[in-house]
Amino acid sequence: MRILSVFGTRPEAIKMAPIVMALRAMPGVESRVCVTGQHRRMLDDTLAIFDIKPDDDLDIMTGNQTLADISARVLTGLDPIMRAYRPDFVLVQGDTATSTAAALTAFFNKVRVGHVEAGLRTGNLLSPWPEEANRRVTAVVTDRHYAPTEKARRALLAEGYPASSIMVTGNTVIDALLHVADEVSAPGPIRDKLDGRFDWIDPAKRMILVTGHRRESFGDGFLGICEALRQLAAREDVQIVYPVHLNPNVRQPVFDLLASVPNVSLIEPQDYRSFVYLMTRASLILTDSGGVQEEAPALGKPVLVMRDTSERMEAVEAGVARLVSTDPARIVGHVADLLGDRRRYAAMATGANPFGDGKAAARIVADLLGQSGVSPLPIPAVEMGQLALAIG
Ligand code: UD1
Ligand code: UDP
Repeated sequence: MRILSVFGTRPEAIKMAPIVMALRAMPGVESRVCVTGQHRRMLDDTLAIFDIKPDDDLDIMTGNQTLADISARVLTGLDPIMRAYRPDFVLVQGDTATSTAAALTAFFNKVRVGHVEAGLRTGNLLSPWPEEANRRVTAVVTDRHYAPTEKARRALLAEGYPASSIMVTGNTVIDALLHVADEVSAPGPIRDKLDGRFDWIDPAKRMILVTGHRRESFGDGFLGICEALRQLAAREDVQIVYPVHLNPNVRQPVFDLLASVPNVSLIEPQDYRSFVYLMTRASLILTDSGGVQEEAPALGKPVLVMRDTSERMEAVEAGVARLVSTDPARIVGHVADLLGDRRRYAAMATGANPFGDGKAAARIVADLLGQSGVSPLPIPAVEMGQLALAIG
C-alpha cells in the first residue's frame, strides 16, 4: 500500500509526525512524505525534532504570501508527484492552505483522501478565516474522515457524511506531545540543556506564555492583544514569555508595541521540544493557536483563548479553557481572576483533557490498512476524556 503524506506548516508537521513514524514502522506500507514548505524555518525545525526527511519538498514559501499564492503553488507542484507516484491514499491534516490544496490535487487525480483532524467547526466561515472554509472544502473530497473527538464526528454527520466514513481517533497532537513531554520532563541531558537555555525565566514569578498568529486578528485584534500584554506586564508577580510567529503581519505590531516593555520577553519561534518545555514551566497560557488549545489541557495548564470563536469548544466545555476574545479588558480581567483565585485556578488546572490519549496515529494507520485490505490491525479502543498528565 502506498501512502503519500502531504503537509507544509509547523502544526501540520507536529500532528502528522506520529503518523509518519507509525507508517515508517509498518510492514506492507510504502510511506512517502511530501512537504510543501508553506512554512520554511518553522517546518524545518519540526522535521528535525521528529527526524523526518521528506522525499519531496515543493519549497513554495515566499515572504508575506497570499492564500492564492500558496494554493496555486501546491496544486501545480504536487500534481506531477501525484501522477508519477499514484498513491493509494493521500493524507492531509487540519485546515491550512496546504492541506486543502493537497486534498484537491488528490481528488483531481482520483486518489483517495484521508483527512486527519476532520470535523472541527465554528459554524462561521469568516472565523477562523480561511480555516473554517478549508476544512469544509477538504471534507467534500475526503474518503476517510479522522475525527479527533465525538463532537467533530457529530459535526460531520450533521453535514451528511456517512457514519461509515468517519472514525473517532483522538488528536495526533497528543501523541506528539506525550512523546516530547517525556523527553523534556525526564532528568537528563535534554532537560539540563533546556534548563540552561531558559535560565532567565524567573522562578519566583508566574510565567505567562503567549502565542498568536491568526489572520482574522490582523489589525485591531493584535492591537488588543498587545495592549493586554502591556497592562499585564505591569504586574510584578508575572513574567510574560512570547515566542513571536514569523508572519510579518504579526511581528510588526508585536515588536513595535512590546519590544521595549519591561517584563515581556519577545523570543523567536521555538522548536517543538523547547516550546513544550516552556508550556510545562508556564502558570497560564494565552493563545489563539489551535494546537496549543489542545496541548495545554493535557499538561494541566489553564488556557485563555484570544479569539471570538473556537472550533475546539471541548476544552471550554470541560472547564479547562476560556474564550476571552482579543479585547484587552477581558484578557486582563480573566488573567487577574485566575491568578487571584487559587480555587478557580486549580479547577482549570486539574480538569479533563478532551483531545486524545496518545493512540490516535495507531488508530489512523490501522484504519488505512483496513481500507486497503492489507493485514488489518486491531484498532486501539477509544478511552479518551480523562487523560490527566503530571509533567514537569
Ligand atoms: C498558516 C496557516 C494557519 C495555521 C498557521 C500555523 C493558512 C492559510 N494558514 O498561517 O491555518 O494556523 O500557518 O502557524 O494555511 N513565515 C516565515 N517562515 C516560516 C513561516 C512563516 O518567514 O517558517 C512568514 C512568511 O513571510 C510567510 C508568512 O509568514 O509568507 C505567512 O505564512 P503562512 O503560512 O501564509 O500563514 P500563517 O499565518 O503562518
Ligand atoms: N509551537 C512550537 N513553537 C512555538 C509555538 C508553538 O512548536 O514557538 C507548537 C505548539 O506546541 C503547537 C503548534 O506549534 O503544537 C501550534 O502551531 P500554530 O499555533 O502555529 O498553529 P495552529 O495550531 O493554530 O494551526
